[in-house]
Amino acid sequence: MALAIMCSGGDAPGMNPAIKKFVDYVYKKREKPYLIYDGLEGLIDNKIKEATHKDVAGIMHNGGTIIRSSRSKRFFEYAFRQQAYENLKYHGITGLIVLGGDGSFRAMEKFSSEFDLNFIGIPSTIDNDIYGTEYCLGVDTALNVIRDALDKIRDTASSFNRAFLVEVMGRDCGYLAIISAIIGGAEICVIPETPFQPEKLTQRLQEEIKEGRNYILAIVAEGTKKTTEIHNWMEESFGLETRVSILGHIQRGGNPTVYDRMMAFEFTITAIDYLLSHHHSNKVVVFQKGAFNLIDIDEVVSNKYQLPQHYLDAINYLD
Ligand code: F6P
Repeated sequence: MALAIMCSGGDAPGMNPAIKKFVDYVYKKREKPYLIYDGLEGLIDNKIKEATHKDVAGIMHNGGTIIRSSRSKRFFEYAFRQQAYENLKYHGITGLIVLGGDGSFRAMEKFSSEFDLNFIGIPSTIDNDIYGTEYCLGVDTALNVIRDALDKIRDTASSFNRAFLVEVMGRDCGYLAIISAIIGGAEICVIPETPFQPEKLTQRLQEEIKEGRNYILAIVAEGTKKTTEIHNWMEESFGLETRVSILGHIQRGGNPTVYDRMMAFEFTITAIDYLLSHHHSNKVVVFQKGAFNLIDIDEVVSNKYQLPQHYLDAINYLD
């Protein structure tokens, strides 16, 4: 049997360990592994190559993805999806693993409903916003990048009587923001899932400043689109010079952490075992309550990820 792996959408640390395990484990199972380069764009353009162990040697510790990724506009058109399917057939590929996020899974749901595919998705996005799974590949590494940045920003903030607003990624999801706020000791966290209600916070922090607090750290999720508004509110309310730091794409880079390498291992083995024992799967591997399960891709894409209530509640316990 020939199985292929590809990445789609935003890259995430942990993709390389998953690609390496894919090639090594498919060979171990005495099947043929293929790599699809450049994501869905590469699938359309037939950038597909049988993999060797050498292709994936020495990549375990690298962030990003050696087979690259893309966001494909062409894949929205049926003719290009058909072309993509013909390319898979040409190589005799019967099973496909896609490392991707929500948008990629939507595309794959369409693709696998139109063509005879044996498909499994592995949730891979630093946003941690995919329905049905508590964890997506790359999140732990991104959180460690943010933690490192916050620790450094706190050093300078506390030395200077300054407030800092740090904007973190996450698309429309506040997961990265709330976890970073908890572990970074931030006083303020604003996420898209809850309304921003500054009244109580203003009063409490003003009192603390009177009692000697000399800096404030705020985490704002990019999905709120409120960075400027919150910056202005902080400057006007606290009498502290306030600097904005937008962390941006550094959050997507960096060597995958131990946790992301382990999760890559488990997600990939589960996906391959499932593909090899089924002929027409249309599933996503999910991590729930410490176990790896498979759920239908249409369930994943037709539901929205909800931040667990205890994280939403945590916003009120920061200061
Ligand atoms: O989905 C991952 C992510 O990094 C989001 O957090 C962010 O909003 C988006 O991708 C950025 O996309 P791009 O790399 O295309 O600018």
